[in-house]
Amino acid sequence: MASSVPDMGGTSIELREVRKADLDVFFAHMQDAEALWMAAFTPPDPTDREAFDAHWDRLLHNPDITTRTILNNGEVVGSVTGFEMFGDREVTYWLDRAAWGSGVATAALRQFLSIEETRPLFGRVAADNVASRRVLEKCGFVKVGDDRGFASARDEEIDELILRLD
Ligand SMILES: CC(C)(COP(=O)(O)OP(=O)(O)OC[C@H]1O[C@@H](n2cnc3c(N)ncnc32)[C@H](O)[C@@H]1OP(=O)(O)O)[C@@H](O)C(=O)NCCC(=O)NCCS
Repeated sequence: MASSVPDMGGTSIELREVRKADLDVFFAHMQDAEALWMAAFTPPDPTDREAFDAHWDRLLHNPDITTRTILNNGEVVGSVTGFEMFGDREVTYWLDRAAWGSGVATAALRQFLSIEETRPLFGRVAADNVASRRVLEKCGFVKVGDDRGFASARDEEIDELILRLD
């Protein structure tokens, strides 16, 4: 069932189960060079549709993964996912560039936190992904550590921040 929260700008952010047709939209979002640079820890070849479909097939059929489509006024604008990584529960999200900067990611993550109830819950962001760090912090996550990791989108190892919600 979808949940809907109107914000002050008159937009309505909803989360619902991911439908197969959403994947075309998510794939298009992932072709954006600026978004790939920000996210940094991306698939090795983001243009590989077969690998993308196989990845989403695993997400959608794994009962330990919670994933939702983000709707803004009924339009598919992104996704938010909770999954297990290195024994920790983590959250990640991706939004269409056209929807950036208007509070959509923050509103979507807030809603998702009542569906994904595992705590502590972690978020990992490239150290220079200020927007993603802010989304996490605005939802109550605090920085608990640093790491280094290979970022496919930049073809090098970069600094990463680890944030936690208790
Ligand atoms: C990261 C992302 C989800 C942010 O989405 P968004 O809808 O723009 O986020 P919000 O509008 O909720 O903004 C959250 C905060 O970030 C700030 N912000 C947004 N873009 C910013 C930027 N480029 N630089 C600095 N701050 C920025 C906003 O001002 C806001 O903070 P404030 O309320 O203190 O002003 C979106 O840019 C995205 O999908 N990027 C590509 C994929 C990605 O990086 N995913 C995260 C992987 S860890």
